[in-house]
Amino acid sequence: MDASEFQKYLGGIYQNGLVMLSVALGHELGIFEFMISSNRSLHLSEIADSLDLKERYTKEWLSSMVAAGIILQDRETNMYTLPESHHPALKMAASFSPIMIVCSKRSDNLLKCFKKDGPYGISYQDSPEWFDWFDNYRSTMCEIAVDTEIIPLLSQQDGVIPKLEKGIRVIDVGCGSGRFTNTLAKRFPNSTFLGLDYSDKGIELSNQMKDSLGLKNVDFVQGDAHNLPDEYNESFDMVFVYDVLHDLPNPFKALEQIYKVLKPDGFFSLIEIGFHSNPIDNAGDKAAAMYYTCSMFICLASSMTEPPHVGYGACWGVEEIEKALKGANFKLEGKSSLVIIGSKTFFFSMK
Ligand SMILES: C[S@@+](CC[C@H](N)C(=O)[O-])C[C@H]1O[C@@H](n2cnc3c(N)ncnc32)[C@H](O)[C@@H]1O
Repeated sequence: MDASEFQKYLGGIYQNGLVMLSVALGHELGIFEFMISSNRSLHLSEIADSLDLKERYTKEWLSSMVAAGIILQDRETNMYTLPESHHPALKMAASFSPIMIVCSKRSDNLLKCFKKDGPYGISYQDSPEWFDWFDNYRSTMCEIAVDTEIIPLLSQQDGVIPKLEKGIRVIDVGCGSGRFTNTLAKRFPNSTFLGLDYSDKGIELSNQMKDSLGLKNVDFVQGDAHNLPDEYNESFDMVFVYDVLHDLPNPFKALEQIYKVLKPDGFFSLIEIGFHSNPIDNAGDKAAAMYYTCSMFICLASSMTEPPHVGYGACWGVEEIEKALKGANFKLEGKSSLVIIGSKTFFFSMK
């Protein structure tokens, strides 16, 4: 890239970053939700009044969305339209976008973590606001991920879905706000699920969802993935871990614990972020750049909180995770035992 090409390229990055902040505001203010549910062209005053917003700010926001091509404006009537074809992607992106606000709020703490004499990291336990954003995000993507990714991938493994249908014991380690645990428990009512997370806020949200669904086959418990109770030894048929291992200060210790709690014929379903372990192999990959950024604010900051302060972070990478699984004696066999889909990697291993 020559100097002027690079200037253009960098300008694009600035533009996208700031427009995404605007998308996040629109989500937080409920404007996207209102426009999607109205599903027709709207006047500025209708949007502002319905949401109790000042017209002037709303107009500025709408203008940024029109300039970005996310919302359309009619020159004659001045009405605003959110095209139906934009709804699905926006529902997903808009619920992810408040991560911009969560990260902004964390900036001061993160800057301190960078300093040699500053704190090592930021724990999930100290971030109830992170859970509110995350639970909302998961609420829009979880069912879709279960239907389009998790169940199809588990279906590729011999006998796993029939076992879940018949009834087995499953633990979801690092269950967060319990979206996956509860969704899977609803799909497989004969199986029993235990969600474990060390955040009290996560367990509170998990129980709220369980109660709202009236589920009887799921429980939630506060606990540490590095130190699972001995009474769990060899008592689970399946361990499910989604987007957690790289957040842990010591994923190797957690893998030992997961191995310990699995029955001798048990299996481990692990979903991790799917980039390469060597950063140079991710060069030029914008999605990886985004994940490294999120990682600094959230995942790395969590994995650095405790000794040995190595910090694996979100892009720990497929190659190193595979080594770690094998090092913990898990068997990765067959071509469906490691599947990369978009930015995620699904590992399926037998004890
Ligand atoms: C990115 S979230 C993923 C949550 C959930 N699996 C999901 O995908 O919806 C990571 C979770 O790991 C939990 N966590 C971090 N360290 C933990 C530990 N030592 N033991 C148990 N959970 C932990 C955090 O509280 C957080 O809920």
